[in-house]
Amino acid sequence: MNTRFFILFSTLTFLIMIFQNCTNPKPEFSEDVHSFSNPNDVVVKHIDLDLNVDFANKIISGNAVLTIENKTGARELLLDSRGLNIIDAFIDDAQSTNFKLGESVEFLGQPLSVRIKSNTKKVTIEYETTAGAAALQWLEPPQTADGIAPFLFTQSQAIHARSWIPCQDTPGVRFSYSAKIKTEPGLLALMSAENPTKKTIDGVYEIKMTQPIPSYLLALTVGDLEFQTLGERSGIYAEPSVINKAAKEFEDTEKMIAAAEKLYGPYQWERYDMIVLPPSFPYGGMENPRLTFLTPTVLAGDKSLVSIIAHELAHSWSGNLVTNANWNDFWINEGFTTYLEHRIMEELYGKDYADMLASLGYQDMVKAMEILGYDSSDTHLQMNLKDRDPDEWEAGIPYDKGHFLLRTIEAKLGREKWDSFVNEYFKKYAFKTMTSDKFISYFESQISDKALLDSLNIQAWIYGPGIPKNVVKVESDAFTKVEAQIETWGKGIPASKLETDNWTTHQWLHFLRNLPKGMNRDQMAELEEWFGFTETGNSEIKHEWLLRVIENQYEPAYPAIEAFLTSMGRRKFLKPIYKKMYEQPEMVAFAKFIYQKARPKYHPISVDTIDRILEWQG
Ligand code: BES
Ligand code: ZN
Repeated sequence: MNTRFFILFSTLTFLIMIFQNCTNPKPEFSEDVHSFSNPNDVVVKHIDLDLNVDFANKIISGNAVLTIENKTGARELLLDSRGLNIIDAFIDDAQSTNFKLGESVEFLGQPLSVRIKSNTKKVTIEYETTAGAAALQWLEPPQTADGIAPFLFTQSQAIHARSWIPCQDTPGVRFSYSAKIKTEPGLLALMSAENPTKKTIDGVYEIKMTQPIPSYLLALTVGDLEFQTLGERSGIYAEPSVINKAAKEFEDTEKMIAAAEKLYGPYQWERYDMIVLPPSFPYGGMENPRLTFLTPTVLAGDKSLVSIIAHELAHSWSGNLVTNANWNDFWINEGFTTYLEHRIMEELYGKDYADMLASLGYQDMVKAMEILGYDSSDTHLQMNLKDRDPDEWEAGIPYDKGHFLLRTIEAKLGREKWDSFVNEYFKKYAFKTMTSDKFISYFESQISDKALLDSLNIQAWIYGPGIPKNVVKVESDAFTKVEAQIETWGKGIPASKLETDNWTTHQWLHFLRNLPKGMNRDQMAELEEWFGFTETGNSEIKHEWLLRVIENQYEPAYPAIEAFLTSMGRRKFLKPIYKKMYEQPEMVAFAKFIYQKARPKYHPISVDTIDRILEWQG
């Protein structure tokens, strides 16, 4: 090729590339391997729901009217659906249109393709849910605290919204919504929205959410519920027998909101209410906007487990305002939130308290590394969840490793600079999405100190395995005291002589986690006699103690294992206990015996996890 021709050719190619870049800017929505939707062509902006909640048949049915923006003149709206029975579809003013459900894919469900026109503004889907909808748990009265009325709650995160509403089920797409919910008189319906505080006579509720949220924050719950005010902006819903205890336990909520605002800027969701759900709720908490869902296992009676509230409240910034663009970057939600949670707790209860939380979190991170392997790519902060269930994480990675990355940055940068960075971050990206890559480039654009950036090596944290060497150390004086007592006991001093007066829940947790391996029956009996762990009403302490019971095969406490596993369905507690039992050949039959009984009462999400652990065939 002659040189002139070559130069001309290269220049042309270069110009074409530039031209393409201008006409084809980077798509607004990055790829989400967990969604069939096509938001770069057509995007949902608002949803109007008109739904009937039928307890007799355990079905939600009705219409979802999706207001769309067709950006490319596309002829197809692609939605996510899983187990939905699609009855009909219409565009704009009740014009019939074609629709088709595609092939079912594991974890994801089926794409729902609806034929639209280039100028279509509204798409109506008439549908009903089916048995086994992953987001829904329908409870019979005996499964509730009061035992009188049935109960329903949803859990949409990560990708279960599609099992009760046809939608673009990807965290990058945000929409506002309204809902008309019709249910049995005598029950109250609440959503992640502006909520009623009293039951209506006819069981019909009109609910509105004006701020745009991603689908995983769609939530609905219906039950015999009461409301109590906690403060100016906050309140609590629960069944009548639980409401007073809950209001007492959460009396610091208003202070938490104030602390969070002082640290991270104005609370953007007007009200912060919470609901205590029945015990089968599979999580500790869920940050549904304006209405956090909570497990009753947080009600310890002494406020000792309220860091869960700080956590869910913190999601009002990290997660609900600045949202992970897809589930591979889940740490963007949970790592940030764990960090904020600790800061809120420090504001309210002091540094010693926060040091204990951090130290336990460090232990959780180490534990996750041991389970997954320090070299495993599953220990990267950015995960690769293609073809995988986005609900199956080890919290020690996105939560604790994520938290420790941010803590390490804080330590190197100084709290003041770091706080002002985080404030700007929430301001700039409010109601937008975030990825690992975007976080790194924003961080690097704000921090000019090259040497500091090098010494942080954020890339190694996010795209590499294990615990990077520059991790900031945590020390807790309160825990040092605990360790001294464990050592004393190890030397043969009886439990009755240990100095444990005024220990907090977290000190007891540290004690239980760090007891010597291979204790004999007498040692276990001695601990039980002095400290009464089996009878404790504190779910975290009970959980930790039962793990020691299993490891050391302390049979007198076996009935307590069964009682605990059949009393609630919180996955964080179920998972380690079943797993540990399954690892001990002599306990496998007992684990299966308990699971057989408890399984029908667990939430589908917990069932999925425990089925896998016990290799359950049904
Ligand atoms: N958003 C999570 C719960 C979640 C995560 C549900 C991913 C489904 C998929 C919530 O904020 C959370 O982290 N809950 C924790 C409690 C917290 C104090 C660590 C839980 O449930 O254990
Ligand atoms: Zn969380």
